[in-house]
Amino acid sequence: MGLGWRLVARPLISRLDSEKSHDIALGAMSRLDNSNYGKSLMNRFYRSPELPIHTLGRLFHHPLGLAAGMDKGAKALSAWPALGFSWIEYGGITRYPQDGNPKPRMFRANSERALVNSMGFNNPGASSVRDSLIKRKALGNWPNTPVAANIGRSKKVTNEQAPSDYSQTLETLWDHADMFVLNVSSPNTPGLRDLQQEDLLRNVIRECSKVRDKNKSQKPILLKVSPDNDDELISEMIDISLNLGIDGIVATNTTISRPEPKNTQSRIAFSQSGGVSGKPLHKRSLEVISNIFDYTNGKTTIVGVGGIDSPESAWKSIQSGASLLQLYSSLVFNGPGVTQSIVRGLKSRVKEYGFSGVSEAVGYFHR
Ligand code: FNR
Repeated sequence: MGLGWRLVARPLISRLDSEKSHDIALGAMSRLDNSNYGKSLMNRFYRSPELPIHTLGRLFHHPLGLAAGMDKGAKALSAWPALGFSWIEYGGITRYPQDGNPKPRMFRANSERALVNSMGFNNPGASSVRDSLIKRKALGNWPNTPVAANIGRSKKVTNEQAPSDYSQTLETLWDHADMFVLNVSSPNTPGLRDLQQEDLLRNVIRECSKVRDKNKSQKPILLKVSPDNDDELISEMIDISLNLGIDGIVATNTTISRPEPKNTQSRIAFSQSGGVSGKPLHKRSLEVISNIFDYTNGKTTIVGVGGIDSPESAWKSIQSGASLLQLYSSLVFNGPGVTQSIVRGLKSRVKEYGFSGVSEAVGYFHR
């Protein structure tokens, strides 16, 4: 299977338009989602070992989950664990259905192992996603892992209306995820990142907390931050978030900064507007994780995301302070075996270091 991927599928997919290849892969995952036989077959090839961690009030089989943006409409929810993921974040979902930005809006820089995307929250809208998730549950096709929902701001509302836009989406999806991520850090919705400023952020979080209070269940709500903020702004955001009951921080979203392109394909990709993900993001993601861990004395849960593509990069994110991890781009560049190989690698590092479990490694760089 791994060889087939390397020899046939990867070369074919890497020549296709990036979004088309994403759609083909997602179509295959949606079909897998409906096939118990297919899932158990994939699971045999791609199962990750157990490396349990308890955080956010739940037990995760291991730290590594699927990042937001891959399964925007939650179409393949129960297929992802068959590729070895221990948790899944679907979305970004907005209150209103959206087409997103004009295509092409996803580019590949193969030499840098980076993607550039300006999708702009293309998604079927909160009510439609809720309806499909209700059907999924009725069919008994809900994944056996924690599920997070990523929530963004609808393009057609202003930042002043953002608090009710986010909270309506949260309310709509409340029964259909175990935890929620407020995304105020995507570069692809005009003005969205301004929601990271003090007053706007406070209002968004307050309205969302009301939804949680009203529903009387303690589901975690996390905030996803941008790698382009300076450290002072991130600290301010952390203060506001933790004071208002946010349970954890996802670090980080994509960056608007650009690495030096190595060739023409990369030059074309990096000249597009949008956010860069993948390998070039890893260094800054580590810094942000580290700063948040330091600033909070390790007291908040950090989800590390950005350029995780190997046991080495995942291990660094954990030692910098992340309890949970996510990836997106390396699934595109390395193929579906990437999850298993990372978790295997993490497990052997935990053993090498003589730790009793992976949670002992969280924030190790700071000791
Ligand atoms: C994303 N990402 C993203 N994040 C988010 O919070 N909401 C979203 O809707 C999306 N959409 C999205 C689409 C595409 C095409 C990409 C490549 C990425 C960001 C993603 O969750 C993650 O934070 C970054 O991609 C960094 O991780 P990787 O890709 O370097 O592992």
